[in-house]
Formats: sequence, C-alpha cells, structure tokens
Amino acid sequence: MKRAIVTDGVPGPRTRELAARGGFDMQAIYRTLVIDDERSSGPWIVDVDGNVLLDLFANFALGALGYNHPAVMAVTRSEAFARAAANPTSTPFVTTASWFDFTEALQSRFAPRGMAKVFCVDAGGEGVEAALKAAFIVHGERRRERAGAPKNPLELSEADQRAVLENRGTDAVVVSFSGAFHGRGLGPLSATHSKVIHKADLPSFPWPTAPFPANRFPLAQHAEANARAENEALGELEKILAAHTGRVAAVIVEPVQSEGGDRHASPSFFRKVQELAGKAGAAFILDEVQTGVGMSGTLWAHEQLDLAHPPDMVCFGKKMQMGGFFATAPYAIAQFGRMYQTKNGDRARAMIAEAILRTVVDDGLLERVRTVGAHFLAGLEGLAVRYPALVSDPRGRGFLLAFDLPSPAVRDDFLKRALGRGVFASYTGTRSVRLRPHLITEKEHVDDALAVFDTVLGELA
Ligand SMILES: Cc1ncc(COP(=O)(O)O)c(C=O)c1O
Repeated sequence: MKRAIVTDGVPGPRTRELAARGGFDMQAIYRTLVIDDERSSGPWIVDVDGNVLLDLFANFALGALGYNHPAVMAVTRSEAFARAAANPTSTPFVTTASWFDFTEALQSRFAPRGMAKVFCVDAGGEGVEAALKAAFIVHGERRRERAGAPKNPLELSEADQRAVLENRGTDAVVVSFSGAFHGRGLGPLSATHSKVIHKADLPSFPWPTAPFPANRFPLAQHAEANARAENEALGELEKILAAHTGRVAAVIVEPVQSEGGDRHASPSFFRKVQELAGKAGAAFILDEVQTGVGMSGTLWAHEQLDLAHPPDMVCFGKKMQMGGFFATAPYAIAQFGRMYQTKNGDRARAMIAEAILRTVVDDGLLERVRTVGAHFLAGLEGLAVRYPALVSDPRGRGFLLAFDLPSPAVRDDFLKRALGRGVFASYTGTRSVRLRPHLITEKEHVDDALAVFDTVLGELA
C-alpha cells in the first residue's frame, strides 16, 4: 500500500458524516478518524473516505501487529475463539482449557524474568490499581506481623475490623514521580502527575511525589546536566522515603514516562530507585502498560535497565489486550477474597494476546524494532540538525520515539499538516510529538514518514 489522500483534507466528508452520528457517545469529542477495517492492512489505515494513512499512532500504542495481521486473524476466525468470545467466564472460578495454554505460555516464555504469578483485568489502569493493592496488602500484613498483631485481617479485633470498614485502614503511601501517568482510576490517579486536567476536582490520596529527572537529548551533549538532575532526584527520593519510614508500600515508575511527554532517565537511575525502594521495604513496581510487549525493542523495557534483581511487580496493558500485573512470589496474594474481580481473565482477549506475543518473539520483531527504531531516531536527529529552531530532543528506545517542537500550537499544527499528508502521529506532554509505530513497521515506512516530516517542517520553518 501507499500513502494517498483522495479527499480535500482529512477528515473527509464520509468521515465527518459518520462521526456526526456518534454524538451520544461521550467520547465523540476526541474522534479523529473513522477507519475501514476491512481495507486497512499492516501499518496502513484506510479511512471510510478511501484515504490511506501511515499509522504511527497505533491507537495510543494499543496496536501491535498492524491491521488484520494473519496470525491474529487466524485465531479470531477459529471456532475456539468464537466460543471464548461468546461464553465469557468468571475465570478464577470457571474456565476452559484454553486459559491454561495462555498462562503456561506467559509463565514459560513471555512473562518478565523472576515473576511467579500473573493477575489479569481488563485495562492498563486497572492492572496498576491491582498492583498497588497487592503492595498495600503485603505492606499491611508485614506491618502487623512486626507489631505482633494477626497477619490475617479476619482475625483482627472487632474495633480494628470496624476501622477497616470505615476507611481508617492504613496510613501507608505509594511514592510516584512527577510527570508520571499510571491510569485514571482513583487509585492510580493519585500516582499520576502528568496533566492538571486529569486530576482537577477529583479526590486524591495524599501520597508523596519524587521529581523525575527527564534527560535532555542528545545524551552526549547533556551528560553532565542529566547526571546532576538524576542525583538531585535520587536525593529527593531518599528524603521522601526517610520522611515516611515504615509507611511506604510501593515506589512505582514507568521505564519511559510516556503520557507525561516521553521522558527518559538512565538505567542507573532506575537501579538506584530499585535499591532505595528495597531498603525502604517498599515494593518496586514498574508500569510497563505502554512500554511492554516489544515497544522498546525488548519484550519488556526493563530488560534494558540491567536491574540487580527483578522488579517486585510489572504492570501491563495495551498490546497485551488486557491489563494486569506480574508479581514475584512475595506479592502473589493468596488469601481468598482479597483480589478477585468478576472476569480476571478474558479468554478471547488472551487468545489474541498469545498470538501477538508468539509473533513478536518468533518472527524476529524485537530485532526489527531495534534496528528500524534506531534508523527512525537517526532520521529524527537529522531533522533536529536541519531545523534547529523547530525540532529538539529527538529521543527513543526501539519504537518509543518522540521529539519536541517549540510550543503546543506548533506541535498541533505539525500533527495536522502531517495528517493531511497521510501520516498519523500523536501528541504527548505539552509540546512533544509521540511516535508509536506498529511493531511490523519497516524501514521503507519510516523513510516515507521522515520525508513527510521534512516537508511539513519546511512549511513551518
Ligand atoms: C504507563 C501507563 N499506565 C497506565 C495507563 C492506563 O491504561 P488504560 O488507559 O488502558 O487504563 C497508560 C495509558 O496510557 C499508561 O501509558
């Protein structure tokens, strides 16, 4: 397929006509495209007007293998998939044999190293919420044990049980980082600090926030300032942990802050955060909702951090087709009634997830993401040299790519013009362009996108 704009601007008339029908949907305010999913293929979106667009948005990194990938389509056409979709189960209580194929595949091939269990929910933010709960549960049990009180909450005194029911259960906290995004439920939102509009008027837990030392790029040019920022941030984290001694249930961090503006820190920063969390007796949780399943060039981005030992928990979502978290043995919550949700394991979604994971690993897509991603980044660095007044901080790991433009208005103009030329990219932070190619994207697609970016920047210069 090839990029082609056949209407006078995007969106075209048929898209506008259809979108106008969607007004009952509260989320209609965001709608950019109405796609023809029969004709869309690989990294190419065909919209209902017949425009062909290169998709570097991939539905906020939800998309993994592009549109209508044969491995995914083969699964979804099977009788087994139809039955799994038609007969949803409360999987913890009742399931079918296919569920064990999925959990065994995770355990033997796809879960991050060191993980003992998986917990599955529907969305990424729900997975984070569940991981935070597991951290609080383990923290509470350990605290009671140290105090000589019963570990099992059902053995607490009547007064203590009443305190639990009346929301006076714990003063424990979760430490998160400035600019973080962990989801929109009221738990994860208290660890989210990317945009005021996400949090305004909503109640939050009074949890502390450590500064995140967003690296400047190119790294070689900013090495000293980046190292200083990381040391200062670690100093602040240490102070926060000391001020909350014995009360920190978890420290949660994204390997690359995605929604907050594609902000990176060095592997040594993460190693130190893990060490400090461990010393504070807190769970070290990595939120890989956006960075996981190959996006960074390794199946899990934290494989590139060279951590001294596995994180205590790893949250997933997006490309996994469901949310959830992997847990090391101490965070595998076993008590009946503690963590249950009705579905906890959508068998149809699991079949798709397994097809995606197998394809990513067996078809050499991780290697491709690394090489094509490095090529894309080199191209963005070239644009930063050609347009120094416009493009700054080109950065990336695998296909987690971004660069900055001078202001939100210029960034939005850039994205609109790129869309009008058939390249669909998205935004993050205040003035960053976020690129999240499907994992099947090839060098020729990247070169095509870079040529469009060059043209648009030329127009803006
Ligand atoms: C790092 C991270 N955590 C959590 C979430 C929330 O995922 P969901 O929107 O599926 O609930 C996102 C979504 O963008 C994310 O990027």
